[in-house]
Amino acid sequence: MRWMEQDKDVQCAETPHIKSPKNPTTQPQPRTPQHTTPRVMATPPSITTTNLLLRGLLPSFLGCAPSTCGAFQMTWRKDLEGRGVENGGLTGKLTWNLGKKHGSEQIANILPKDDANDPNFGAAIEQLWNAIEKSVNELAKSGKVLKKYDYQSEEDALTALGGDIMDGGQISSRDKRLKKEKKEGKALAPEAVCVGHVLNDDGSTYALALLHGDSLIELSSLGTIKILREKNESAVVCNKKKCEVTVKFCVIPADEKLVDGVAGPENASNIDLSQCMEKNIRDEEGLKYKVYMEQLALKAIKSDAVASPEIISPEQVQEMDVADDMVVTAFEVSGNIDYSKLIDKFGSKPLTPYLLKRLENVTVKRGTVDKLHRFLRREIFFSHRDIEKICELLEEWYGVSPPPEDEENDLPATAATYTEPTTQCPLYLYTGRGPSSSAMHLGHLVPFLFTAWLQKAFRCPLVIQMTDDEKFLFKGEYSGDNAGDEGAADPNRTGDNLDHFANLTIENAKDIIACDFIKDKTFIFSDLDYVGRMYPNIVRIWKAVTVNQVNGVFGFDSSSNIGKVAFPAIQAAPSFGSSFPKVLGGGKANAVTLACLIPCAIDQDPYFRLTRDIAHKLVPRHHPLQGKPALIHSKFFPPLQGAQGKMSSSDTNSAIFLTDTPEDIERKIKVHAFSGGQETKKLQEELGANLDVDVSYQWLRFFLEDDDELIKIGQSYGSGKGEFWSTGLVKAKLVEVLKHLVADHQNRRKNVIEDVVREWMSERCIL
Ligand code: TRP
Repeated sequence: MRWMEQDKDVQCAETPHIKSPKNPTTQPQPRTPQHTTPRVMATPPSITTTNLLLRGLLPSFLGCAPSTCGAFQMTWRKDLEGRGVENGGLTGKLTWNLGKKHGSEQIANILPKDDANDPNFGAAIEQLWNAIEKSVNELAKSGKVLKKYDYQSEEDALTALGGDIMDGGQISSRDKRLKKEKKEGKALAPEAVCVGHVLNDDGSTYALALLHGDSLIELSSLGTIKILREKNESAVVCNKKKCEVTVKFCVIPADEKLVDGVAGPENASNIDLSQCMEKNIRDEEGLKYKVYMEQLALKAIKSDAVASPEIISPEQVQEMDVADDMVVTAFEVSGNIDYSKLIDKFGSKPLTPYLLKRLENVTVKRGTVDKLHRFLRREIFFSHRDIEKICELLEEWYGVSPPPEDEENDLPATAATYTEPTTQCPLYLYTGRGPSSSAMHLGHLVPFLFTAWLQKAFRCPLVIQMTDDEKFLFKGEYSGDNAGDEGAADPNRTGDNLDHFANLTIENAKDIIACDFIKDKTFIFSDLDYVGRMYPNIVRIWKAVTVNQVNGVFGFDSSSNIGKVAFPAIQAAPSFGSSFPKVLGGGKANAVTLACLIPCAIDQDPYFRLTRDIAHKLVPRHHPLQGKPALIHSKFFPPLQGAQGKMSSSDTNSAIFLTDTPEDIERKIKVHAFSGGQETKKLQEELGANLDVDVSYQWLRFFLEDDDELIKIGQSYGSGKGEFWSTGLVKAKLVEVLKHLVADHQNRRKNVIEDVVREWMSERCIL
């Protein structure tokens, strides 16, 4: 029996401090095998048991096989002495070797990487430890059955159960022993070993492992497990060289009831290992953790304080799976949208509280805006690519340092500490619209309202692309003289409606201009008109992208018209400052190295993923983002009929149009807005409304500026008590907010006559 760990797996640096086990009748007394030194002691049962639990649990978090566990080590931590920790400070440590280069793809997706200079790395790892700690303690309370099998020798255990029961350290000790036996020509005396077995409720195996000690504690009497994270005791190394996770723990003991050992089975086929060793199960559990992490990140944005993590239950994961019918492509949005899955699917990143703090530091603290936009405060813009690099650029430009990462600390800078930079802003904004109907609706406003805020906050140039070409290629048609559209009477008309889309550009531009951009910093352009300037870059992009790539990203095939296949280059081109030699260059040659930030709804991401892939080919090497446009993504504005999905201009009752009258607004909301309230007054007062699906409440999240009021409405309506207890009251509030919003918009738009549009669309320097 390997009572004492004699190889380098175990070190117990300060053995003199080790107190004798507090309960000698249940604690095994170290026997003294041949080579034991006083520095070595037996693994206490609590550590042995927790080690076994973690052998079963960690594969779920890491998405790896149980046999990837590299080593177990026992150490002494001085400051645990006297804190109720068994043996005054003994800790167990497991190391998992997950391969080279960020481990496998699966693992790389789950673990944060420590070589990306990611400011959120520390927080993400902390969440991992929290989640593991919570899970392992839940596991201990789960009532799972624990068995201990005694074998005469390691050989017997391996013959019966196979090599996967060993961790890396055990394998190498065994190899060493076998070598020694071979060299000396005789077998060493066999030592008895124990195997621990954790069973699921259905009798299948949760964990099966060769133990490092010889006693297990009944789970019901195992103490509280703590994951030790000070001084990098538990650590994740996940970089280009290797991927390794170390988990160090201690157990604060409770009454200890030992598991009675039984003779181990002679054959593993008596044990149902399917759940334990099957790779798929592990992947699924790992994914569950990942989905959970993203949810947490999103939740944290809302509450600001990082919520204490709860491990997702299988039921919750099933709920998430309901969203599997969602479709989000550049051309179609349908089904229940699960935004954390979307981040996952698209490979973008959640906007974290820290990033918001950084944004606040370069905007609010600069004094250009009073607070972060409500779309940021309420996670309506929720995902991004490279926003941290945009923050870096701005920090450098303003000469301020990033805010401390510490959640507790408030921002150090005040508006007064900023001196306005005299050099030119290092970035520009780019957004756009496919003009598809003459009347825009509220949903269309979302990216433009936000872009206007960003422009004001950064005081930076902005280009707005009107993709009349895109809309014609995708939605246009040949329409004979008898088509009855607005140009039908024109004898010179061609057989199609390209002009129709060109005219929509002008109409839509009026609504966009009414969103309050800074005129001398904004250039609106129609592709049909301006494309010549961008043409050199378009040609470069065409050369860099294959038809296969475009078909893969956008789902075109060989029957698609060739304009569709060519179009993504035209939406990509404005991501490069060099597409605007006059507008962003103005004679100064730096247009080429300006960084580009694109605010857009998440369905536009595929265009820019493609752009980012080839961006380095279009810029000089010193471009701060290697040409890649940064992105900040919004969720969709829900249609009146239900909070899931996107509004459509074709269903007039699914949207409030910017041309609607106050009566239209009132009627549409009262009649069509989907309610999350209860069927009867009594039920509503008892249960309150389901705010997540209630369109009126959701729309208030987009358009009611006052946070306190929104919270008040949410609390009252959600509980069915107080000032806004009913759907009618909340709808009335929404009607009031929207009547103002739409009236203000209409007033601004009134002044935007065609000449004004022409000014905004004239090619001029906007730096
Ligand atoms: N394709 C977008 C649409 O159909 C229009 C668009 C062009 C756009 N360039 C953009 C949107 C940049 C956001 C950002 O509406």
